[in-house]
Amino acid sequence: MVGFYQHSSELVCDDVPLSAIAADVGTPTYVYSAAAVRERYRAIDGAFGAYPHALHYALKANSTFALVKLLRELGSAVDANSIGEIEVARRAGFAPSEIVFPGVGKSPAELECAVPLGLKAINVESAGELARVEAIAAKTGRPARVAVRVNPDIDARTHPHVSTGLKINKFGVPVDQARELLTSMAGRRWLTLVAIHVHVGSQITTLGPLRNAAAFAAGLAGELRGAGVRLEYLDLGGGLGIAYDGGAIVTPEEYVAALVHEVRADGLPIVIEPGRSIVGPAGVLVAQVVDLKPRDASSHFAVLDAGMTELLRPALYGAFHRIEPVRPRANGAHEYEVVGPVCESSDVVGRDRRLARLEVGDFVAIRDVGAYGAAMASNYNRRPLPAEVLVDEGRWRVIRRRQTVDDMLSLEHE
Ligand code: LLP
Repeated sequence: MVGFYQHSSELVCDDVPLSAIAADVGTPTYVYSAAAVRERYRAIDGAFGAYPHALHYALKANSTFALVKLLRELGSAVDANSIGEIEVARRAGFAPSEIVFPGVGKSPAELECAVPLGLKAINVESAGELARVEAIAAKTGRPARVAVRVNPDIDARTHPHVSTGLKINKFGVPVDQARELLTSMAGRRWLTLVAIHVHVGSQITTLGPLRNAAAFAAGLAGELRGAGVRLEYLDLGGGLGIAYDGGAIVTPEEYVAALVHEVRADGLPIVIEPGRSIVGPAGVLVAQVVDLKPRDASSHFAVLDAGMTELLRPALYGAFHRIEPVRPRANGAHEYEVVGPVCESSDVVGRDRRLARLEVGDFVAIRDVGAYGAAMASNYNRRPLPAEVLVDEGRWRVIRRRQTVDDMLSLEHE
């Protein structure tokens, strides 16, 4: 077994009891399974078989340094969404040729910094941005490699907050302007068009939108070829969802097969930018029950020492995450509203959950938080960023220590 499972009546990560980590490091703490990251990376990568491709892990999902290095060891490249992510990637050893740089609002300072690096591609999202990239490339005397992100007006059928491929969304060049922009790039000295980029959303759980986006990109590439413009590859974005309820879902094999099916006739290499599907299920957040009190006739509030500051997804998207007692008691289940400690009623981690009976001091694990968990944590209520632990080959180590008030105040002046 790889990842998180019950062993001798307690929840373990690759055979290491979560209770042992929590007792040592304290809570709240993110715990990741290196074996699960490896397994998920290899499942997606292997599904391409001999078809030319590159996985650019989406750093936004989780860019804790040890995980970034682990992905590099696996042979991944990266998708960086800010100059901060580019810098972290470079410090982890990624070459500029292994980095793509999408993002809807690249600042002048970010472009000044990124263009001269000679990245695999700057994924531009508008005609204005293309002109700004061109001006910097001309100034530096080195053509910029550019992918154009096109907004295909495809409904990803996911949560509206993470749906990015409809024309009402802020992302990419509108489909009706894309052809003109793409063909206008031919012969421009300081721009090299290398790819079309589409990314229609995140946590996509059906094949249709992913397949349609790939078909759209392949179709557009075909039109361009007809007009004498040859691309190097197609960037089909990220978006493959995970089964937050533990049920069945589109597999990496089905996903990759659908992409390859749409692109194969053209033969262009495929780049994808998976984030959640690689690291999401490979992490849990271990928290402690700090209070219990009656809620209504049939349920209790279970107050944890982790909430929206450590894991924003439930409060922001109404997201569901399984919650499991680390050492479940055998005698009977109870109804709980599992909440965090933050001064807001939106700070609910799990609504109406039936769990083995809890007592104050118990540890619980919040599942599938390896992606967009630690990466979205905040200092609201002056709560320190949580510790992070990596379990690898039966051993564990702290890969990010818990923040302290000194750490926070070190940035401030009277
Ligand atoms: N590429 C681009 C251009 C993206 O914008 C994203 C995610 C990805 C790749 C990676 O997508 P993934 O494979 O992880 O679905 N905070 C939200 C998710 C936001 C996703 C933003 N973009 C959440 O917690 O659900």
